[in-house]
Parts: sequence; structure tokens; C-alpha cells
Amino acid sequence: MLNRLYYVLTLFCWLLLTPTLGNAQEAITFTEGQVNDGQNIYRETCQICHGNRLSNGQFGTPLRGSFFRKNWAGKSLGELVQHTWEKMPPDNVKSLSWEQVTAVLSFILSRNELSASSAAMTTEMDTLNTILLPWK
Ligand code: HEC
Repeated sequence: MLNRLYYVLTLFCWLLLTPTLGNAQEAITFTEGQVNDGQNIYRETCQICHGNRLSNGQFGTPLRGSFFRKNWAGKSLGELVQHTWEKMPPDNVKSLSWEQVTAVLSFILSRNELSASSAAMTTEMDTLNTILLPWK
């Protein structure tokens, strides 16, 4: 009798929660540490083309402001990670580790009105693919 009650209760909770879970979107998170690491990588490897203010580069497109945001709004963080790893820096593509790419992107996102928190940006592609960029 008690077993059946638990069963019914579990089923009830599941039905109640499933639609909410289905719609839930993972939030973008990254830590201050990732931003700092990313800033160092940026200065060494990206700044020469994208500029010290991320939007004043002579040889690279702006990585902050409306140009960048419009390009990426609604796309997944996974796509941005993949794109950056495959194409940047152009003379040495696929040279950055997944940790370095997520760090440098944490830095770039922090300059596009997203805030660091206590939760790190993951390097798991499956999860990154479920996280959508904002700025619609
Ligand atoms: C030799 C110059 C050069 C260097 C160095 C360079 N980039 Fe780029 N980057 C470009 C150019 C040119 C584009 C535009 C063409 C493209 O998207 O492939 C670009 C585009 C991008 C984009 C896509 C922007 C958009 O809105 O579509 C990202 C993200 C990016 N770079 C990140 C980086 C990062 C991170 C680094 C350092 C690890 C870096 N780049 C180093 C020249 C450079």
C-alpha cells in the first residue's frame, strides 16, 4: 500500500517537473579566474588583430558590441567555441586547448555585458551545445 503511494507520488512529481525541465535553458556561466586567464591569452594571441579594446582591431572583426552580438545571438556557446578553436588565431588554428578557448571566450563575454559567477564555463561540448547566447 505504502509502496504504491510512493509510486503515485513519484509519478505525480515527474509529470509536474518534466515540462519545466524540458524548457529550461542552461545559463551562461564563467568564473573571474577564467576571465583573467582569458585576458592573458587574449593579450598574447588575439589582441594584435582584434585590438586592445576588442573592437579597435585593424585586422580582426569586433569581438564586443553589436556586430559581434548580432552574429552570435541565439546561437549556441558550443558553436562559438568550435568556431574559435577551428579558425583562431588564423595562422595557428586548433592550437588552443579547450580550456584556453573557454577562458578566452569567458573574457570576451565578460566584455559583452555578461557577468562572472562562482560556476565555471564547462569544457564539455554536449553541455556547451545546449547553452544559447543571449542579446536577442
Ligand atoms: C591574424 C589576425 C587574427 C588573430 C591573431 C585572431 N583573429 Fe579572430 N578573427 C580575425 C578575422 C579576420 C576574423 C573575421 C573572419 C572570420 O570570422 O574568420 C576573426 C573572427 C573572429 C571571431 C568571430 C567573430 C564573429 O563575430 O563572427 C572570433 C570569436 C575570434 N576571431 C576570436 C579570436 C580569438 C579568441 C583569437 C585569439 C586566440 C583571435 N581571434 C585571433 C583575425 C584574427
